[in-house]
Amino acid sequence: MLTKQDNHLLTRTGPGTPMGELFRRYWIPALKSDEIQPDGKPQRVKLLGEELIAFRDTEGKVGLMEEACPHRGTSLYYGINDGCGLRCMYHGWKFDTNGDCTEIPSEEGDPKFRQKIKIKNYPVKEVKGMIWTYMGPEEEQPEFPEFYWMGLPDENMMSERVWQECNYAQVMENDLDYVHAAFLHKAHGTQVTGEGILSTDLGIDPNHPLVKNPPVKQDVEDANYGKRCVAVGIGTETDNAFMEIHYIFPFYTYPPRFEGEDGMWHAFIPRDDYSTWSWDVQFSHNRPIDVQANHDRRGLKLDEHFKKQISLENEYAQDRELQKTGNFTGIRGIANQDHAATETMGAIVDRSKEHLGTSDLPIIHMRRLLLQQAKAFQEGQKPMALENESLKNLYSAGLYDSNEKSWQEAFPMQDQFKKGGQEVKS
Ligand code: FES
Ligand SMILES: [Fe+2]
Repeated sequence: MLTKQDNHLLTRTGPGTPMGELFRRYWIPALKSDEIQPDGKPQRVKLLGEELIAFRDTEGKVGLMEEACPHRGTSLYYGINDGCGLRCMYHGWKFDTNGDCTEIPSEEGDPKFRQKIKIKNYPVKEVKGMIWTYMGPEEEQPEFPEFYWMGLPDENMMSERVWQECNYAQVMENDLDYVHAAFLHKAHGTQVTGEGILSTDLGIDPNHPLVKNPPVKQDVEDANYGKRCVAVGIGTETDNAFMEIHYIFPFYTYPPRFEGEDGMWHAFIPRDDYSTWSWDVQFSHNRPIDVQANHDRRGLKLDEHFKKQISLENEYAQDRELQKTGNFTGIRGIANQDHAATETMGAIVDRSKEHLGTSDLPIIHMRRLLLQQAKAFQEGQKPMALENESLKNLYSAGLYDSNEKSWQEAFPMQDQFKKGGQEVKS
């Protein structure tokens, strides 16, 4: 349970809010590289409550800037993108990717006026087919985070963004929730999948340790990137399944996977307080990723604005017969199942009314860290730094080992991820 005040602090991320200012100190995936072409149509991207547009100029450079024209506010989304700049359709003011005003046709006699005009824009970096941005103060820009999957060949990964209709915090809580897999994602019958692929669109095979039983034990450790959430599940008669979820501060995760399975990385970026850009990167460690199989199993059908066609409005296409015969939800698509669980809570769930159990331990730790960091940041402390030496080697890698061993014996945290060189229990 959270007080109403803490729930407010956790969930509000617009300009000037404590959590919003903290989030602006981290690199954010904004859009995919192929969404914008040289001299092509700009793309709308709302981030942390700010209405932004992205465009790619004649030379391929990317600009990410405020949507409203600084002249009198017309949307630059409708503008003309050519000749190394984006021109407003209303009076022809033109801007380059740095946000500088390069032309004001009606004020040509006064270059000083033009030179004073600057549109608010943010730096970008293109990595692995994704355009990332940093929205904080220039002098505080952190090192770009080098996640493990960024070191894999391009054909080993795929990425997808989707507009999810609820606050980022409840989406991220779902990712740290081991128990939900054993219900929400459980298929009733055997599922045949390609090598390394976790599920079909119905769900996860009922014999997979993620869904066979809820974990018998969970624990959370402090790590130098955030939190390592460990779970012990029943694997075989002799072995337990040891699993981990990594929560990387402030809004990135690696959900649980076993050695040999394709990996998954997520980022949950507030679009505004009532919706989230849910980023999903699937990656294979040692072979090209099966794009179609992963797309199908997630089951998302998106329009050109990344809004879902299977949604709350059509009750996620729930099939009550399928709920008896096929899976726990009657909903096809792992992602649709997650969205149904989190969006039906309402856009911002009232955490003063909830009843958390021991199974919610990772969620409690994640919230505590976010709130503690937001409060410390408000009091002038530096935001938690992410270390690339750690991020480069980090991914979820569950294993099986004797059920006579504790998780600390079978599945200890590697030294490189320990906080301050030492494991700290929280
Ligand atoms: S409002 Fe954009 S040029 Fe006038
Ligand atoms: Fe899920």
